[in-house]
Amino acid sequence: MMSNVEIPAGLKELLQGYTVEVLRHRPPNLVEFAVQYFTQVLENQRNDQRAKKRSTKPARKGVTFEINKSSKDDEEEEEEEEEEEDTIKSTTGKYNRRVSVCAEAYNPDDDEDDDAEPRVVHPKTDEQRRRLQDACRDILLFKTLEQEQFSEVLDAMFEVLVKPQEHIIDQGDDGDNFYVIEKGVYDIFVQKDGVSVCVGKYDNKGSFGELALMYNTPRAATIIATHEGALWGLDRATFHRLIVKNNAKKRKMYEAFIECVPLLKSLELSERMKIVDVLGARGFKDGQRIITQGEEADCFYIVESGEVKIMIKSKTKAGQQDNTEVEVARCSRGQYFGELALVTNKPRAASVYAVGDTKCLVIDIQAFERLLGPCMDIMKRNISQYEDQLVALFGSSVDLKH
Ligand code: CMP
Ligand code: CMP
Repeated sequence: MMSNVEIPAGLKELLQGYTVEVLRHRPPNLVEFAVQYFTQVLENQRNDQRAKKRSTKPARKGVTFEINKSSKDDEEEEEEEEEEEDTIKSTTGKYNRRVSVCAEAYNPDDDEDDDAEPRVVHPKTDEQRRRLQDACRDILLFKTLEQEQFSEVLDAMFEVLVKPQEHIIDQGDDGDNFYVIEKGVYDIFVQKDGVSVCVGKYDNKGSFGELALMYNTPRAATIIATHEGALWGLDRATFHRLIVKNNAKKRKMYEAFIECVPLLKSLELSERMKIVDVLGARGFKDGQRIITQGEEADCFYIVESGEVKIMIKSKTKAGQQDNTEVEVARCSRGQYFGELALVTNKPRAASVYAVGDTKCLVIDIQAFERLLGPCMDIMKRNISQYEDQLVALFGSSVDLKH
């Protein structure tokens, strides 16, 4: 029966292409990978058709899965039409912005040109360098760089002084620089249904402006200085050469682990990879305090190796806090902690200590809010369990969520 069925032209090549990419990338989820791969194929096909229509420019060559490898010139040429036709909304539609098709799996081997680019060096005084190093100490994107790459980043950074109400970034613009905050408060605005909503702020620390440079997308938010401030900028080309290339290594390094984190199971592969792109890794010695009860929170942790213990200051019978700490839980590989204060917008509810040498993956509050929204239900369910734990320990009912 099957012998009468005509095989559509191109089907064999299409499936062969997919198979080759599966063998190259060895993705853990074949269906998710297929969605990404064929979306890219479709986009390339459309680009080819558009190029043919205009016939002034040559069409892109063949269908390859080298995502996000367009040169600067290509970007500029295609920008106009992409904006008209190729607007792909984020999967949640939450921020109504164009996102890259596949959370681009950038392949560093494809981009030899980058290495030929001259190194950018902005000379600095000793005092400037010291301030720069202080500002960059906790920047998560720099945490997985080799020392040599980190030095190159520092060399390339340049000081930017900002005035009150200055727009550092405007949503929708092209990305030029990545910024590290030395001082100042910066409001974050995102357009929602045509209205600009303040979704958070950076308070004298942190960094922003990585998304447009990582994914070749327009700026996803507007950043406005509320007071005078100081930033350190890193140009797009150096960011690409050092940080984006390092991200490709990070993806290889953490992909398998991130797949096994139960909390992240409900996310799409591309969403999990976006988490990998922005996470940092931090090591802690036995007994080192990672989180302090009562302090303000700015990040979220996943245990990569080792173990942590969660300690809460006990309460007297009258319900007052004394300073003796009681162990309430432990977290090991694949488990998370530090979400509660970010979800409730309250100070840290417990202290957390490393048990033995421990390594954690760290995600900042902005990325947590942007990328972990779909996991919120699971986190809220677990917070109810903390409440039960605390009732069992201290005897009185506790409301951690409000
Ligand atoms: P980029 O899109 O390059 O420029 C705006 C920056 O704002 C973005 O990178 C992030 O670094 C930062 N940002 C902070 N919060 C958000 C958010 N909720 N959505 C998008 N971008 C955000
Ligand atoms: P956060 O309050 O941000 O910082 C301390 C973390 O300890 C908290 O988030 C939770 O992730 C974790 N934790 C685990 N068990 C409990 C518990 N019973 N009560 C409060 N926090 C807990």
